[in-house]
Amino acid sequence: MSKTGLTEVLLNEKKLYKPSAKVLKHAKVKQWKATIDKANKDPLKFWEEAAEELEWYGRWHDILDDSDAPFFKWFVNGKCNIVHNCLDRHIGTPTENKTAIIWESDSGKRRKLTYKQLYKEVNKLANGLKFLKVRKGDRVAIYLQNIPETAIAMLACAKIGAVHSVVYAGYSANALRERIDDQAAKILITSDVGHRRGKIIDMKWLCDKAISGSPSIQHVIVIRQDGVHVPMKMNRDIFYDALVETQPDVCKTEVMDAEDPLFILYTSGTTAKPKGVVHVHGGYMVGIHRTFEWIFDVKENDIYWCTADPGWITGHSYIVYAPLMSGVTTVMFEGVPDYPKPDRIWRLVDKYKINILYTAPTLIRALMRYGDSWPKKHSLKSLRLLGSVGEPINPEAWRWYHKVIGKSRCPIMDTWWQTETGMIMISPLSSMPLKAGSATLPFPGIQAEVVDKNGKPVPAGKGGYLVIKNPWPSMLRTVFKNPQRYLDTYWKDFPGLYNTDDLAHKDKGGYFWIQGRGDDVLSIAGHRIGNAEIESAIVSHKAAAEAGVIGKPHPVKGESAKAFVILKKGYEPSDKLIDEIKKHIRSELGPIAITDEIEFVDKLPKTRSGKIMRRVLKAWELGQDAGDTSALAD
Ligand code: WT7
Repeated sequence: MSKTGLTEVLLNEKKLYKPSAKVLKHAKVKQWKATIDKANKDPLKFWEEAAEELEWYGRWHDILDDSDAPFFKWFVNGKCNIVHNCLDRHIGTPTENKTAIIWESDSGKRRKLTYKQLYKEVNKLANGLKFLKVRKGDRVAIYLQNIPETAIAMLACAKIGAVHSVVYAGYSANALRERIDDQAAKILITSDVGHRRGKIIDMKWLCDKAISGSPSIQHVIVIRQDGVHVPMKMNRDIFYDALVETQPDVCKTEVMDAEDPLFILYTSGTTAKPKGVVHVHGGYMVGIHRTFEWIFDVKENDIYWCTADPGWITGHSYIVYAPLMSGVTTVMFEGVPDYPKPDRIWRLVDKYKINILYTAPTLIRALMRYGDSWPKKHSLKSLRLLGSVGEPINPEAWRWYHKVIGKSRCPIMDTWWQTETGMIMISPLSSMPLKAGSATLPFPGIQAEVVDKNGKPVPAGKGGYLVIKNPWPSMLRTVFKNPQRYLDTYWKDFPGLYNTDDLAHKDKGGYFWIQGRGDDVLSIAGHRIGNAEIESAIVSHKAAAEAGVIGKPHPVKGESAKAFVILKKGYEPSDKLIDEIKKHIRSELGPIAITDEIEFVDKLPKTRSGKIMRRVLKAWELGQDAGDTSALAD
């Protein structure tokens, strides 16, 4: 074994990347096998020990209450607040002077906030929210880009017991409206404008559109990013700076029950309506803290950068909450990876001496395409560990990431999880041997399995459905105001097992290989979007009668959307109409739902009950065998 590099050996025809002595020296978990075995023998004890690493206002009576399964309760009657662990407990310790957040904007502006400064900012906004009559349990929608105020707003809500719901800034006004209405949010926090690739995005204008006629929104708090003129509605809209200016910088942290909701995050599913995934204070903080510390091997003075957007669960758990609980420096970046040049990311790694980089396969593939010369302009020597999340990482991208970015020195943590799981569920620990393209093994205390349609485990090498067999502390508690949907979506297909809706197989060594989503959710550049959501956006266009949307393999984005559209009588297919429908999808759902291809057809394959058989469409498109078509109407 070399001292600095990872040694590559062959096993089972899959190359095994073993940890170097240096990686092992740093590893928080050195005996990965024994650790997993021990945790799996007594998962509750494992999670209780994890909970004891954090501060609580009052201890729990029971670790788990499964009497109303699958509505599980964790750390029953425990009293806590995640913000106490992110901020309050660092104050008065040397950590208070450490940099909590480093932020850089699209245009190169930068800001740094120490833990003390962040604490004060959060307290001021928390008081501001109280001034606007926000109370425990009220919902606050946050529509912001990747700026420090996004984290500040989340923390301020949590501090006073309000429930935040961040809506990704790439979503359209319509998508924002739908989410605000579903949760009946009282407050919306946004900015005058946002930035992307040198362009200005009219955030406030989008918000005005989204909340016109909203029955629930009482106030809009507007952050002045550029200080441009935006229309402000009397008695409803207030500038952030004006609101917090006069507020005291101390604020009592609300004592929450472990099971009190912390946030709602909407995610795409099989139907057109997104689901409001509910996470709570207690179990969530325990799950993300333990996974963050162990998987990323965090050290006290680490500079850590997760390139996700705070509008996704990755940003919630691993840009904001977990890094702050660990007291490290978390980097927030408002820009895009290849603007102004394809080495923006690598430049930032050197500039801020990033030790841990956590990013997505789509980004790795996009940057790989520009060639090695761009990363080679930078030393990247501060990097110690790399992470990947969002979709399966193809072995070619894994090897490039490993060799060209990690210089064969940094282990890659391919982390599988979901909005619903709250925390990373399947991932290596740095002391484990790695295989390019495999998320390896379930995290200690998590029991995952690949099963057939009857819920029976399948043999190694055979594909099946990925399920989780036992509850975990940071699991979603319900779908907001829709417990039936929680039961139907996650617990109906395989009684007693949590259905991830992903397909996977295990190899002979027990390593998991995730293949991707089942048939009804697309993953475009790692973003989840329901086929049905795009279809429903298309048929809301005046010319479209029916639509079927499928995903096609895409070299960079992983998957791209193609729509088959039946036009209403009186409309003729044309390139102009294709453009119009594409624009319409964008305005309905936002740029993340970008549909690359639209084809007009006279008929769609349907089941006798009238469901569009996307599987058949896909097979036709890709020239594959459509498999069992006995359900086809004709
Ligand atoms: C879906 C969840 C969790 C953060 C980002 C996405 C896919 C996620 C991996 C991975 C293969 C992955 C799955 C999952 N996915 N990570 N390492 N390997 N697939 O959150 O939007 O809730 O999407 O992303 O299909 O079900 P999300």
